[in-house]
Amino acid sequence: MKDAIRVAMLGCGTVGGEVVRLLRDQADELTARAGAPVELVGVAVRRPHKHPELGALLTTDASALVTREDVDVVVEVIGGIEPARSLLLEALKAGKSVVTANKALLAEDGATLAEAADASGADLYYEASVAGAIPLLRPLRESLAGDRITRVAGIVNGTTNFILSAMTESGASYADALDEATRLGYAEADPSADVDGYDAASKAAILATLAFHTRVTSADVHCEGIREVTAADIAAATGLGCVIKLLAICERAPATADAPESVSARVYPAMIPTTHPLAAVDGAFNAVFVEAEAAGQLMFYGQGAGGAPTASAVLGDLVAVARNRVVGGRGPRESAYASLPIRPMGTVPTRYHVSLDVADRAGVLSTIAGEFARHGVSIAAVRQSGGGTTYDGAPDPEPGAPARLVLVTHAAPEAALATCVAALTGLEAVHGVDSVLRVEDLGRKGVR
Ligand code: NDP
Ligand code: HSE
Repeated sequence: MKDAIRVAMLGCGTVGGEVVRLLRDQADELTARAGAPVELVGVAVRRPHKHPELGALLTTDASALVTREDVDVVVEVIGGIEPARSLLLEALKAGKSVVTANKALLAEDGATLAEAADASGADLYYEASVAGAIPLLRPLRESLAGDRITRVAGIVNGTTNFILSAMTESGASYADALDEATRLGYAEADPSADVDGYDAASKAAILATLAFHTRVTSADVHCEGIREVTAADIAAATGLGCVIKLLAICERAPATADAPESVSARVYPAMIPTTHPLAAVDGAFNAVFVEAEAAGQLMFYGQGAGGAPTASAVLGDLVAVARNRVVGGRGPRESAYASLPIRPMGTVPTRYHVSLDVADRAGVLSTIAGEFARHGVSIAAVRQSGGGTTYDGAPDPEPGAPARLVLVTHAAPEAALATCVAALTGLEAVHGVDSVLRVEDLGRKGVR
């Protein structure tokens, strides 16, 4: 049997606590799988009194721990940018391999960590950073290395999926569904990283980087959250045979006469048909669709968060790193050789569902249709309700009341739709634009 692979852990909270438990409970099996004992030799935390069970393993000096002679691998489950970045750079510089679940850091500055790993010939693994337990990054980096990925799209944030599922099932408002998510422990006291889309945007950056061999950071990801989604939007989606999901979409856009091949990464709530497999992903679960030229469509589904599921991904990385150490090598590294440009969001085409309150009189529909035409946005369907007449032509109890107009467009660039909506808002006949939601069919390869 080879010498033990000695592990230092930074942080011992929700994820770290489960990593320790699994390391202890499965010690013999992990040894057999790794080809050497995997031994925890130190744990850095802020408040050691909270972790009496770790005894002499504990330290508050994380910096000293990551460079200790008797450490081979550093597992980082602290989270956030600093001190995690400095600690991991120190560790890599000292030749230690790194396993981390830190999506925020990888999405902001993964390039610096990857360069440090390359410089020292150490491993940098981070399966747990996207979609918790779901094996997704290794398939992108290794299993699909011989294929050309065209799209990675899915639900990568459990908190927002729980909220949107609750709104769909019960008709609850956003505020009530968020309260429920907080009460059940899905949403944190400050839910902004989840509900404003930043958590999903970090994950989109990591997925796009691996899928398209192009460095994509969180700043490159267009990001909208779910705070503005109303019960009326959910009802409108239901009426169209759709559900609303917070989607992370990473696409390869082919070259055109005007633009080179590029990468689009974006996060926003969108209507998707109830017939799409992602529509059936409810509650706190995650699911990701991958499309590749030769492989076709693949779907990954499972628990995207939580201590034990996330620790499963950390342990998988730890065994991989240990195996590499046992044979004296390093695993496949990520590559950013393609270095594709980021497609400007304004040029990304999507279908839209636009809902507005308008004066119900002759010529208004024509004026509104004209505005869409002037901005090059083609209308696919129109529906009117309320106002001076009902559908069957019977007189309305309130003649002269505004009418609700709902339009669904064909795919149009984001910038064209935005200027069209701004122009509609300025029309005398338009009392208000209630909502603008994207409609994604997710059924076609690549960017339209
Ligand atoms: P927690 O907040 O539960 O735990 C954080 C741990 O880090 C605590 O043990 C804390 O110490 C320790 N810590 C914080 N600052 C320092 C510091 N400066 N020095 C040493 N230790 C420190 O976080 P989670 O376990 O939930 O998350 C960890 C990572 O995993 C994050 O990057 C997160 O994004 C990622 N992740 C989490 C998932 C989840 O479901 N929770 C899912 C997927 C990824 P102390 O205990 O003393 O307070
Ligand atoms: N807050 C995240 C979620 C945890 O709700 O999915 C996993 O990254």
